[in-house]
Amino acid sequence: MHIHDLPTPALIVDRKRLKNNLESMAEVAAAAKVKLRPHIKTHKSPFIAHWQQELGACGVTVATIDEAEIMVYNGIKDIFMAYPMAEVHRAERLARLSRLAKVSVGVDSKAGVSILAEAVSKYDAHLGVLIEIDTGLHRTGLASAENVAELARTISKVPGLELRGVFTHAGHAHGADAEGRTRIGQAEGEITVEIAQSLRKAGFPIQEVSTGSTPSAATVAQVPGVTEIRPGTYVFNDGSLVAIGLANWQQCALTVLATVVSKPGSNRCILDCGSKSLASDKQKGVPGFGTIKGQETTSISWLNEEHGVIEGDSPHQGIGEKVEIIPNHACTVMNLFDEYYLVEDGIVLARIPVAARGHRHLI
Ligand SMILES: Cc1ncc(COP(=O)(O)O)c(C=O)c1O
Repeated sequence: MHIHDLPTPALIVDRKRLKNNLESMAEVAAAAKVKLRPHIKTHKSPFIAHWQQELGACGVTVATIDEAEIMVYNGIKDIFMAYPMAEVHRAERLARLSRLAKVSVGVDSKAGVSILAEAVSKYDAHLGVLIEIDTGLHRTGLASAENVAELARTISKVPGLELRGVFTHAGHAHGADAEGRTRIGQAEGEITVEIAQSLRKAGFPIQEVSTGSTPSAATVAQVPGVTEIRPGTYVFNDGSLVAIGLANWQQCALTVLATVVSKPGSNRCILDCGSKSLASDKQKGVPGFGTIKGQETTSISWLNEEHGVIEGDSPHQGIGEKVEIIPNHACTVMNLFDEYYLVEDGIVLARIPVAARGHRHLI
């Protein structure tokens, strides 16, 4: 089947571009001799997660308990849940999962440790724990070495919890220029390694120093003492990464295929992709809500739920014409679809579920 025979809106993954992106990041990790534990929140697809493992990844990173379960149920053996645990039922699901795979989880509070302690004791489970360090994003995580050491002491008293390391995420590297990304990646690595060292001095056997975002990965991987990087968005790239010069349009592997449904005037063209298929994310440096593949000076000017409106000169004349749109933010778009089409040279190779999308509370 040709891509243009698909019903729209449809989510498209270009196999060659995906392969190149997967291989490039695998090479970054291999060259720096660090482990690669990709964040699967971008693709939410066990098919891609297995491809990443075949290219050398040591496991996956997840944000939600649904993602963790879907990955384990589909054969991924090593999971790191990089998200704080604040509910007993979620911690219990994670504890049960640890009977099926190697599971570790991030913490940044004593309350989080108590919840994990309750869950591991109930299920006689074993969970690895990594303390989250704030290296400048100012989202979750602890910034002071004393607070980290105190939390390490709390964790070490809990049977069933094994303090494996520290982790951080320099999400503030998104939006930074090349110089800013290098500076942020360097600081991300150095701060985390220094805290790991102080924990080791205090007697904690810290094995993992886990860092990374897509924009900081190449720099932080080179910082001595970093053991693992966790980029996610690199699998597809998107408008936001093109805007900061980290990728070019030809490296963007994810698109939304849409149909021209109306052309009411010479300078307005309406597509059947609105906020329910392209997401409303605005990104610094990218105009509008998505960019037309092959016509990258044209973007979607505004969205309603099922309408994407191109204003101004547009080459799309005919109602029924198909257009591919590169999203501004790949991860949120992936989460909006039940399945994606894997495509090579315009030919559809497979229809694959976005198995871990949404919040489904499986158990
Ligand atoms: C904790 C954590 N690690 C890794 C990543 C992956 O970063 P990126 O999206 O820049 O690839 C994210 C992204 O949200 C994250 O929150």
